[in-house]
Amino acid sequence: MCGIVGYIGEKQAGPILLNCLSWLECRGYDSCGIAVAGGDLTVYKNAVRVKALEETLPPGIKGTAGIGHTRWATHGEPSQVNAHPHGDCAGKIVVVHNGVINNFQKLRQQLSGEGHSFISETDTEVIPHLVEKYYDGDLAKAVAIALDEVVGSYAIIVMMAGEPGLVAARKDSPLIIGIGDRENYIASDVPAVLDYTNRVIYLEDDDIGVITADDVKVTRQGAGVDRKRHRILWSMEDARKGGYGHFMLKEIHEQPKVIRDTIQAYLLAEESTEDLFGPGDTYRASMLLLACGTSYHAAMIGKYLLEELFGTPVRTELASEFNYHGYNIAVDRAIVITQSGETADVLKAMKRLTGAGCPVTAITNVMGSTASRMAQRVVYTRAGPEISVAATKSFIAQLMALYWLALLYSKIDISQRDNLVTKMRQLPGKVQQVLDNDAVILKCAGQLVGYDHTFFVGRGINFPVAMEGALKLKEISYIHAEGYAAGELKHGTFALLGREAPVVAVVAQDDTYEAMLTGIKEIKARHSPVIALVAEGDETVGELADTVITVPQTDAIFSPVVNTVALQLLAYYTAKQRGCPIDFPRNLAKSVTVD
Ligand code: G6P
Repeated sequence: MCGIVGYIGEKQAGPILLNCLSWLECRGYDSCGIAVAGGDLTVYKNAVRVKALEETLPPGIKGTAGIGHTRWATHGEPSQVNAHPHGDCAGKIVVVHNGVINNFQKLRQQLSGEGHSFISETDTEVIPHLVEKYYDGDLAKAVAIALDEVVGSYAIIVMMAGEPGLVAARKDSPLIIGIGDRENYIASDVPAVLDYTNRVIYLEDDDIGVITADDVKVTRQGAGVDRKRHRILWSMEDARKGGYGHFMLKEIHEQPKVIRDTIQAYLLAEESTEDLFGPGDTYRASMLLLACGTSYHAAMIGKYLLEELFGTPVRTELASEFNYHGYNIAVDRAIVITQSGETADVLKAMKRLTGAGCPVTAITNVMGSTASRMAQRVVYTRAGPEISVAATKSFIAQLMALYWLALLYSKIDISQRDNLVTKMRQLPGKVQQVLDNDAVILKCAGQLVGYDHTFFVGRGINFPVAMEGALKLKEISYIHAEGYAAGELKHGTFALLGREAPVVAVVAQDDTYEAMLTGIKEIKARHSPVIALVAEGDETVGELADTVITVPQTDAIFSPVVNTVALQLLAYYTAKQRGCPIDFPRNLAKSVTVD
């Protein structure tokens, strides 16, 4: 998704903007640009990576205020002309925008009729023209009037030659202000400014901020408002690669620590159990788990866990589908799971749920995110900043939150619960074993690398693990991968099996074991090569599968943790051998802020 940054202070804005933009690269983008104000405005943009933009920047772009953008194309192809910033007719106003202007065509027609000329295909370009139309000496006022005409979602920064401040505004798209010392920053994401400051203000919908080097003024419908200043606890060190070739590998290797930190926080009274999730009765009544992408796979695992340990049915929904259901949405409690806390479909679903009077708990990784502010209750995962587009450690942290909820309010007896908590505390060590055993996984990646199509199968609580394994492989290695409930493969998909379609089978030591063995035999009979994930000590599967990846024994409910980590490594090594840009997969975005 698009990322936006702004700077105003005493230093040269260009290098700062480019550095801030480099921290937004993992959001996914196809073009980028900056505009710097030093007397006149200079705009420099292209359909290239940030590094390439920096290398081709003409010398002499000077100015101590500026705005920058990474664009993820929605309206118009990735190109120099469609890249942001966009300007007005007179070349005095420039705008960067994240979001979608739904009524841009109507506005464009109107403005064209009034003599404004457009050069790009973007929806964004109407904004500088609207601001130009309404400007009469007060930029913030012109922005406010312009935005009154706009229908859609936006986080914008507007800069005008000769005006002393930058103007920022948001609606349904995140925007923060970073507070510095005689300098201030604006960004769509906190990591963009962490090299310079850890003090931030989160703008709310309909806020308009006027940001100068010394001051930040926020207004809402013309009246001044006070927005709290937050101190961010993540450091930039947390977000750097720390010697790993890719953020994804670093984040995979951080998982033992993430599990330890999460258990520590949840278990050792940093937050008392009741404080964390609130009263148990609403969770044991009718419950909905809602999410997108990888977080949805965590929700699916949560369903198995909670149904098993609570003994009550739990519904899961993809947020993007839930928003189009007409049925009665009343449930006693909804849990939304969202790493970023900014996924548009999730936020839309939250609005719908809260509107229907349903209390919503958000499990999120980002403090101050929109979801965290919209939810009645927030449970933070302890993954730290996740930079790679492919979610890894945030997923494992989400599982830990769900395990904690399941154990907290389960109907099982105390000794059984203590036993599970003990096993949960062994997970960091078990995950470390998977990481240390990566030579076999590397070898399996060598087997997958030349194929175009793969299937991942699992049953029960490991069905979502198969889905997640397939998602990881396809998103970073570009190999077509489908995750299947193992029992479903024979209802159609068998037609695609054969020597050219390997199958990765996730075999757990639970009541699905025998059925998985039968499934593997059926797959082998159709000549598909089989890579099986099995628990240590299993002798049987090795006789059926072509290759076996062994993971440590755990209680079956925790098997998704070790199995997922093995599949993350499998995807990583496959993508690496295929030479893919692992941290920046094509066409993808870390946080999808449009629906
Ligand atoms: C994007 C990311 C995925 C992520 C999904 C949901 O598609 O690329 O990795 O799982 O959004 O994101 P969320 O922040 O809501 O968990």
